[in-house]
Amino acid sequence: MSSPPTPSFLYGTAWKEGRTAALVELALRTGFRAIDTANQRRHYFEAGVGDALSSAYEAGLVTRADLFLQTKFTYARGQDHRLPYDPAASFSTQVAQSLASSLDHLHCDYVDSFVLHGPASNYDWTEYDAEVWEAMRKQRANGRTRAIGVSNVSLSHLEQMVAAGTENPAFVQNRCYASLGWDREVRHFCRERGIVYQGFSLLTANVDVLHHALVRSLATSLNTTAPQIIFAFSRAIGILPLTGTSSAEHMKQDLASLDLSLPPEAISGIESLAG
Ligand SMILES: NC(=O)c1ccc[n+]([C@@H]2O[C@H](COP(=O)([O-])OP(=O)(O)OC[C@H]3O[C@@H](n4cnc5c(N)ncnc54)[C@H](OP(=O)(O)O)[C@@H]3O)[C@@H](O)[C@H]2O)c1
Repeated sequence: MSSPPTPSFLYGTAWKEGRTAALVELALRTGFRAIDTANQRRHYFEAGVGDALSSAYEAGLVTRADLFLQTKFTYARGQDHRLPYDPAASFSTQVAQSLASSLDHLHCDYVDSFVLHGPASNYDWTEYDAEVWEAMRKQRANGRTRAIGVSNVSLSHLEQMVAAGTENPAFVQNRCYASLGWDREVRHFCRERGIVYQGFSLLTANVDVLHHALVRSLATSLNTTAPQIIFAFSRAIGILPLTGTSSAEHMKQDLASLDLSLPPEAISGIESLAG
Protein backbone atom coordinates (compact mmCIF):
# COMPACT_ATOMS: atom_id res chain seq x y z
CA MET A 1 0.00 0.00 0.00
CA SER A 2 1.45 3.39 -1.00
CA SER A 3 2.08 6.28 1.41
CA PRO A 4 -0.89 8.61 1.82
CA PRO A 5 -0.75 12.09 0.28
CA THR A 6 0.05 14.66 2.98
CA PRO A 7 -3.06 16.66 3.93
CA SER A 8 -2.97 20.44 4.41
CA PHE A 9 -4.97 20.75 7.65
CA LEU A 10 -6.14 18.18 10.20
CA TYR A 11 -9.45 18.43 11.99
CA GLY A 12 -8.98 17.16 15.56
CA THR A 13 -11.76 15.33 17.37
CA ALA A 14 -10.66 15.28 21.02
CA TRP A 15 -12.95 16.38 23.86
CA LYS A 16 -16.13 16.55 21.75
CA GLU A 17 -18.01 13.68 23.35
CA GLY A 18 -21.67 13.69 22.24
CA ARG A 19 -21.02 16.49 19.77
CA THR A 20 -18.32 14.53 17.91
CA ALA A 21 -20.48 13.25 15.04
CA ALA A 22 -22.18 16.60 14.37
CA LEU A 23 -18.90 18.53 14.51
CA VAL A 24 -17.00 16.11 12.28
CA GLU A 25 -19.84 16.21 9.76
CA LEU A 26 -19.78 20.01 9.88
CA ALA A 27 -15.99 19.97 9.41
CA LEU A 28 -16.39 17.76 6.32
CA ARG A 29 -19.13 20.02 4.94
CA THR A 30 -16.88 23.02 5.54
CA GLY A 31 -14.09 21.40 3.55
CA PHE A 32 -11.80 19.50 5.93
CA ARG A 33 -10.67 16.22 4.41
CA ALA A 34 -8.26 15.01 7.10
CA ILE A 35 -9.48 13.82 10.50
CA ASP A 36 -7.42 13.06 13.60
CA THR A 37 -8.83 10.76 16.28
CA ALA A 38 -7.65 8.11 18.76
CA ASN A 39 -8.96 4.88 20.22
CA GLN A 40 -8.81 6.47 23.66
CA ARG A 41 -12.36 6.80 24.93
CA ARG A 42 -11.17 9.01 27.80
CA HIS A 43 -10.59 11.94 25.41
CA TYR A 44 -12.07 10.85 22.07
CA PHE A 45 -15.38 9.38 20.90
CA GLU A 46 -14.04 7.54 17.87
CA ALA A 47 -17.36 5.82 17.09
CA GLY A 48 -18.89 9.31 16.77
CA VAL A 49 -16.31 10.09 14.08
CA GLY A 50 -17.44 6.92 12.31
CA ASP A 51 -21.08 8.03 12.51
CA ALA A 52 -20.14 11.32 10.85
CA LEU A 53 -18.28 9.48 8.10
CA SER A 54 -21.30 7.26 7.41
CA SER A 55 -23.58 10.31 7.17
CA ALA A 56 -21.14 12.09 4.86
CA TYR A 57 -20.87 9.04 2.57
CA GLU A 58 -24.65 8.63 2.50
CA ALA A 59 -25.12 12.31 1.66
CA GLY A 60 -22.63 11.95 -1.21
CA LEU A 61 -20.42 14.57 0.36
CA VAL A 62 -17.21 12.54 0.24
CA THR A 63 -15.96 9.02 -0.41
CA ARG A 64 -13.44 7.15 1.70
CA ALA A 65 -10.79 7.82 -0.96
CA ASP A 66 -11.20 11.60 -0.50
CA LEU A 67 -10.23 11.35 3.17
CA PHE A 68 -7.12 11.10 5.30
CA LEU A 69 -8.06 9.27 8.51
CA GLN A 70 -5.60 9.10 11.40
CA THR A 71 -6.02 7.24 14.66
CA LYS A 72 -3.79 6.25 17.56
CA PHE A 73 -2.77 3.39 19.83
CA THR A 74 -2.74 4.53 23.46
CA TYR A 75 -1.04 2.59 26.26
CA ALA A 76 -3.29 1.58 29.17
CA ARG A 77 -1.76 4.27 31.41
CA GLY A 78 -3.29 6.91 29.10
CA GLN A 79 -6.72 5.25 29.07
CA ASP A 80 -9.61 4.99 31.52
CA HIS A 81 -11.51 1.74 32.11
CA ARG A 82 -12.92 1.78 28.52
CA LEU A 83 -10.00 -0.04 26.92
CA PRO A 84 -10.09 -1.07 23.26
CA TYR A 85 -7.94 -4.15 23.97
CA ASP A 86 -7.20 -6.81 26.56
CA PRO A 87 -4.66 -5.19 28.93
CA ALA A 88 -3.34 -8.62 29.91
CA ALA A 89 -2.42 -9.41 26.29
CA SER A 90 1.01 -8.70 24.80
CA PHE A 91 1.59 -5.22 23.38
CA SER A 92 1.57 -6.70 19.88
CA THR A 93 -1.91 -8.09 20.50
CA GLN A 94 -3.07 -4.82 22.08
CA VAL A 95 -1.95 -2.91 18.99
CA ALA A 96 -3.81 -5.33 16.69
CA GLN A 97 -6.96 -5.22 18.84
CA SER A 98 -6.87 -1.42 19.12
CA LEU A 99 -6.58 -0.91 15.37
CA ALA A 100 -9.26 -3.55 14.63
CA SER A 101 -11.58 -1.67 16.99
CA SER A 102 -10.70 1.67 15.30
CA LEU A 103 -11.49 0.23 11.86
CA ASP A 104 -14.80 -0.97 13.29
CA HIS A 105 -15.55 2.48 14.77
CA LEU A 106 -14.58 4.25 11.55
CA HIS A 107 -16.38 1.76 9.25
CA CYS A 108 -13.35 1.26 7.04
CA ASP A 109 -10.75 -1.39 6.29
CA TYR A 110 -7.68 0.85 6.53
CA VAL A 111 -6.62 4.15 8.06
CA ASP A 112 -4.14 6.50 6.44
CA SER A 113 -2.05 6.95 9.55
CA PHE A 114 -1.74 4.97 12.79
CA VAL A 115 0.14 6.78 15.53
CA LEU A 116 1.69 5.70 18.83
CA HIS A 117 -0.02 8.24 21.11
CA GLY A 118 3.03 8.58 23.33
CA PRO A 119 6.06 6.47 24.25
CA ALA A 120 5.91 4.39 27.44
CA SER A 121 8.51 6.60 29.12
CA ASN A 122 8.67 10.39 28.97
CA TYR A 123 12.44 10.11 28.51
CA ASP A 124 13.38 6.95 26.66
CA TRP A 125 12.39 4.87 23.67
CA THR A 126 11.93 1.60 25.54
CA GLU A 127 11.68 -2.07 24.65
CA TYR A 128 7.87 -1.70 25.06
CA ASP A 129 7.81 1.00 22.40
CA ALA A 130 9.99 -1.15 20.16
CA GLU A 131 7.47 -4.00 20.45
CA VAL A 132 4.55 -1.65 19.75
CA TRP A 133 6.36 -0.12 16.77
CA GLU A 134 7.07 -3.53 15.28
CA ALA A 135 3.40 -4.45 15.73
CA MET A 136 2.39 -1.20 14.02
CA ARG A 137 4.71 -1.99 11.09
CA LYS A 138 3.00 -5.38 10.84
CA GLN A 139 -0.42 -3.67 10.67
CA ARG A 140 0.92 -1.54 7.83
CA ALA A 141 2.29 -4.61 6.04
CA ASN A 142 -1.19 -6.17 6.37
CA GLY A 143 -2.78 -3.11 4.74
CA ARG A 144 -4.67 -1.84 7.78
CA THR A 145 -2.79 1.46 7.78
CA ARG A 146 -0.91 3.27 5.05
CA ALA A 147 1.59 4.96 7.36
CA ILE A 148 2.75 4.90 10.98
CA GLY A 149 3.75 7.73 13.28
CA VAL A 150 4.58 8.78 16.82
CA SER A 151 3.21 11.51 19.07
CA ASN A 152 4.36 13.37 22.18
CA VAL A 153 8.02 12.67 21.48
CA SER A 154 11.17 14.56 22.39
CA LEU A 155 14.29 14.86 20.29
CA SER A 156 15.83 12.27 22.60
CA HIS A 157 13.07 9.74 21.84
CA LEU A 158 13.65 10.25 18.12
CA GLU A 159 17.43 9.99 18.43
CA GLN A 160 17.07 6.81 20.44
CA MET A 161 14.82 5.39 17.71
CA VAL A 162 17.57 6.11 15.20
CA ALA A 163 20.24 4.62 17.48
CA ALA A 164 18.16 1.45 17.80
CA GLY A 165 18.00 1.17 14.00
CA THR A 166 14.23 1.81 14.03
CA GLU A 167 12.46 2.83 10.85
CA ASN A 168 11.62 6.55 10.81
CA PRO A 169 8.00 7.45 11.46
CA ALA A 170 6.08 9.04 8.58
CA PHE A 171 4.50 11.49 11.03
CA VAL A 172 5.41 13.13 14.32
CA GLN A 173 2.53 14.80 16.18
CA ASN A 174 3.51 17.14 19.01
CA ARG A 175 2.17 19.98 21.14
CA CYS A 176 3.87 23.04 19.74
CA TYR A 177 5.06 25.68 22.21
CA ALA A 178 6.28 29.01 20.85
CA SER A 179 8.47 29.20 23.96
CA LEU A 180 10.43 26.20 22.62
CA GLY A 181 10.94 27.85 19.24
CA TRP A 182 7.77 26.09 18.09
CA ASP A 183 9.39 22.72 18.91
CA ARG A 184 12.38 23.73 16.79
CA GLU A 185 14.66 20.77 17.57
CA VAL A 186 12.04 18.16 16.75
CA ARG A 187 10.89 20.07 13.66
CA HIS A 188 14.44 20.24 12.35
CA PHE A 189 14.99 16.54 13.00
CA CYS A 190 11.80 15.82 11.04
CA ARG A 191 12.64 18.14 8.18
CA GLU A 192 16.06 16.54 7.69
CA ARG A 193 14.47 13.11 7.39
CA GLY A 194 11.34 13.88 5.39
CA ILE A 195 9.08 13.23 8.39
CA VAL A 196 5.87 15.28 8.39
CA TYR A 197 5.57 17.28 11.61
CA GLN A 198 1.99 17.75 12.86
CA GLY A 199 1.48 20.50 15.45
CA PHE A 200 -1.37 20.74 17.94
CA SER A 201 -2.34 23.34 20.56
CA LEU A 202 -0.93 25.99 18.22
CA LEU A 203 -3.40 28.52 19.62
CA THR A 204 -4.10 27.26 23.13
CA ALA A 205 -0.43 26.73 24.09
CA ASN A 206 0.59 30.13 22.70
CA VAL A 207 -1.93 32.65 23.96
CA ASP A 208 0.75 35.29 24.57
CA VAL A 209 1.82 35.09 20.93
CA LEU A 210 -1.79 35.38 19.75
CA HIS A 211 -2.02 38.66 21.64
CA HIS A 212 1.44 39.92 20.72
CA ALA A 213 1.58 43.31 18.98
CA LEU A 214 3.44 41.82 15.97
CA VAL A 215 0.75 39.22 15.35
CA ARG A 216 -2.06 41.69 15.95
CA SER A 217 -0.63 44.28 13.59
CA LEU A 218 -0.06 41.62 10.89
CA ALA A 219 -3.67 40.49 11.30
CA THR A 220 -4.89 44.05 10.88
CA SER A 221 -2.71 44.79 7.87
CA LEU A 222 -3.68 41.53 6.13
CA ASN A 223 -7.35 41.92 7.09
CA THR A 224 -7.39 38.57 8.85
CA THR A 225 -7.45 37.22 12.42
CA ALA A 226 -4.60 36.41 14.81
CA PRO A 227 -5.42 32.65 14.78
CA GLN A 228 -5.27 32.70 10.97
CA ILE A 229 -1.83 34.34 11.18
CA ILE A 230 -0.64 31.57 13.51
CA PHE A 231 -1.95 28.81 11.23
CA ALA A 232 -0.42 30.45 8.13
CA PHE A 233 2.86 30.90 10.03
CA SER A 234 2.88 27.28 11.17
CA ARG A 235 2.52 26.04 7.61
CA ALA A 236 5.24 28.42 6.45
CA ILE A 237 7.71 26.79 8.88
CA GLY A 238 6.75 23.29 7.81
CA ILE A 239 4.10 22.39 10.38
CA LEU A 240 0.99 20.48 9.33
CA PRO A 241 -1.52 22.14 11.69
CA LEU A 242 -4.39 20.67 13.67
CA THR A 243 -7.45 22.57 14.77
CA GLY A 244 -10.17 21.28 17.04
CA THR A 245 -12.52 24.20 16.70
CA SER A 246 -16.19 23.67 17.51
CA SER A 247 -17.25 26.83 15.70
CA ALA A 248 -18.56 26.85 12.12
CA GLU A 249 -17.09 30.30 11.57
CA HIS A 250 -13.67 29.29 12.91
CA MET A 251 -13.68 26.16 10.72
CA LYS A 252 -14.04 28.43 7.68
CA GLN A 253 -11.40 30.83 8.95
CA ASP A 254 -8.95 28.05 9.74
CA LEU A 255 -9.26 26.60 6.22
CA ALA A 256 -9.09 30.08 4.68
CA SER A 257 -5.68 30.53 6.35
CA LEU A 258 -4.33 28.07 3.76
CA ASP A 259 -4.58 30.88 1.20
CA LEU A 260 -2.73 33.34 3.36
CA SER A 261 0.95 33.89 2.69
CA LEU A 262 3.10 35.88 5.07
CA PRO A 263 6.14 37.99 4.16
CA PRO A 264 9.48 36.31 5.10
CA GLU A 265 10.25 38.93 7.75
CA ALA A 266 6.89 38.21 9.43
CA ILE A 267 7.67 34.49 9.49
CA SER A 268 11.11 34.97 11.05
CA GLY A 269 9.67 37.57 13.43
CA ILE A 270 6.99 35.22 14.77
CA GLU A 271 9.41 32.29 14.91
CA SER A 272 11.72 34.20 17.23
CA LEU A 273 9.05 35.94 19.33
CA ALA A 274 9.15 33.66 22.29
CA GLY A 275 11.92 31.12 21.84
N1 LIG B 1 -1.43 13.60 20.30
C1 LIG B 1 -1.92 14.15 21.39
O1 LIG B 1 -1.57 13.80 22.51
C2 LIG B 1 -2.93 15.25 21.26
C3 LIG B 1 -3.17 16.10 22.35
C4 LIG B 1 -4.07 17.14 22.19
C5 LIG B 1 -4.73 17.32 20.99
N2 LIG B 1 -4.49 16.47 19.95
C6 LIG B 1 -5.24 16.61 18.68
O2 LIG B 1 -5.19 17.95 18.25
C7 LIG B 1 -6.53 18.42 18.08
C8 LIG B 1 -6.59 19.90 18.28
O3 LIG B 1 -6.29 20.17 19.63
P1 LIG B 1 -5.72 21.58 20.00
O4 LIG B 1 -5.19 21.44 21.38
O5 LIG B 1 -4.84 22.07 18.93
O6 LIG B 1 -6.97 22.50 19.89
P2 LIG B 1 -8.32 22.52 20.69
O7 LIG B 1 -8.16 22.11 22.10
O8 LIG B 1 -9.31 21.81 19.90
O9 LIG B 1 -8.60 24.04 20.76
C9 LIG B 1 -8.58 24.89 19.70
C10 LIG B 1 -8.95 26.21 20.32
O10 LIG B 1 -8.69 27.22 19.40
C11 LIG B 1 -9.89 27.94 19.15
N3 LIG B 1 -9.90 28.28 17.74
C12 LIG B 1 -9.70 27.49 16.66
N4 LIG B 1 -9.76 28.21 15.53
C13 LIG B 1 -10.00 29.49 15.91
C14 LIG B 1 -10.14 30.69 15.20
N5 LIG B 1 -10.08 30.73 13.86
N6 LIG B 1 -10.37 31.81 15.91
C15 LIG B 1 -10.44 31.79 17.25
N7 LIG B 1 -10.30 30.67 17.98
C16 LIG B 1 -10.09 29.54 17.31
C17 LIG B 1 -11.01 27.02 19.54
O11 LIG B 1 -12.13 27.71 19.96
P3 LIG B 1 -13.55 27.49 19.21
O12 LIG B 1 -13.95 26.08 19.44
O13 LIG B 1 -14.44 28.48 19.86
O14 LIG B 1 -13.27 27.81 17.78
C18 LIG B 1 -10.39 26.24 20.72
O15 LIG B 1 -10.51 26.95 21.92
C19 LIG B 1 -7.35 17.59 19.05
O16 LIG B 1 -8.73 17.59 18.75
C20 LIG B 1 -6.72 16.26 18.86
O17 LIG B 1 -7.21 15.65 17.67
C21 LIG B 1 -3.59 15.46 20.05
